[in-house]
Amino acid sequence: MSQPLLSVQNLDVSFTFQDGDYAALKNISFSVYPKEIVGIVGESGCGKSLTSHAILGMLPTNAMIKKGSIQYRGTDLVSLTNEEWQSIRGSAISMIFQEPMTSLNPLLTIGRQISEVLKKHTGFCNKEIKEMTIALMKEVGLPRAEELYRAYPHQLSGGMRQRVVIAIALIGEADLVIADEPTTALDVTIQLQILELFRKLKQTRNTSLVFISHDWGVIRKVCDRVIVMYAGHIVEEGPIEEILQHPKHPYTQGLIQSIPDYKKRGEPLHTIPGRVPALRERRGGCPFVDRCSLRMDICQTTYPEGKKHGNHQVKCHLYAQEAINI
Ligand SMILES: Nc1ncnc2c1ncn2[C@@H]1O[C@H](COP(=O)(O)OP(=O)(O)OP(=O)(O)O)[C@@H](O)[C@H]1O
Ligand SMILES: [Mg+2]
Repeated sequence: MSQPLLSVQNLDVSFTFQDGDYAALKNISFSVYPKEIVGIVGESGCGKSLTSHAILGMLPTNAMIKKGSIQYRGTDLVSLTNEEWQSIRGSAISMIFQEPMTSLNPLLTIGRQISEVLKKHTGFCNKEIKEMTIALMKEVGLPRAEELYRAYPHQLSGGMRQRVVIAIALIGEADLVIADEPTTALDVTIQLQILELFRKLKQTRNTSLVFISHDWGVIRKVCDRVIVMYAGHIVEEGPIEEILQHPKHPYTQGLIQSIPDYKKRGEPLHTIPGRVPALRERRGGCPFVDRCSLRMDICQTTYPEGKKHGNHQVKCHLYAQEAINI
């Protein structure tokens, strides 16, 4: 297999509050390979956004990387200065957020916003920049690009605005794009069109993507591999179809059983009882122990080691006797 583009190893991130430090990410390790789309799923508060913010050097001021490394093309980002990290953002690695309006300036036309970023990244003259802007707008599927060039963000639909944000994210020719719930605010048909666009970009631009979502349908549509997070830990990881067909961790099993199935219309929806513990409520042992119907005594006290079953990995004591340690 080729070298990973991104390799996160044993990453711990904590928040500092008045009464002490609280771990929000524990021992996070995963890699993203060239031209790969990796999904991150998990309930609210599991640490999906925090993981992406750590990769981009955009942690909140009260959060800190305590341990671990984030290697991008062999360079450890953790040791970079703020300026160096800033030069990586938007060029090598770029980010797309859930709500496109937060990334766009409401007072500037679409054409101007794309052009300004293009100007920063290239030395071309205004005429060339305009041509590049229109070409980029067409590449991300914006209709009537010449006309939209003069439009303001509020004149566009949510789906079109997200295409503008994607266009801007592509300008620095980033080879890794991190998209945090990029389609959640869109209705289903527009969602599908944006997902199709991500798949196309992987093919045409060789872009790798980390795709954060609550929605397994969305993850299944675009991702090659999926990482399941729970309470700041990665509990399972593997190829998307393998995880959907044969989930091993009771948390993943619960999440997959909770996917609404129209064939089971009328039957009660499955839910995982309880909720993700807040940072202050987290303690040793397996993070899922309080909600797990299959818990054993050891789960209360000991964090499970990772086990590898081919390219499927799980951290759960149920599999202690099986497979190989990772
Ligand atoms: N600025 C902050 N100050 C304190 N705690 C924070 C801050 N940002 C995040 N957290 C905590 O860190 C944990 C992980 O948060 P994160 O935003 O990564 O969750 P998430 O998986 O992205 O959830 P969601 O699906 O709701 O976006 C949560 O417990 C959250 O409360
Ligand atoms: Mg989030």
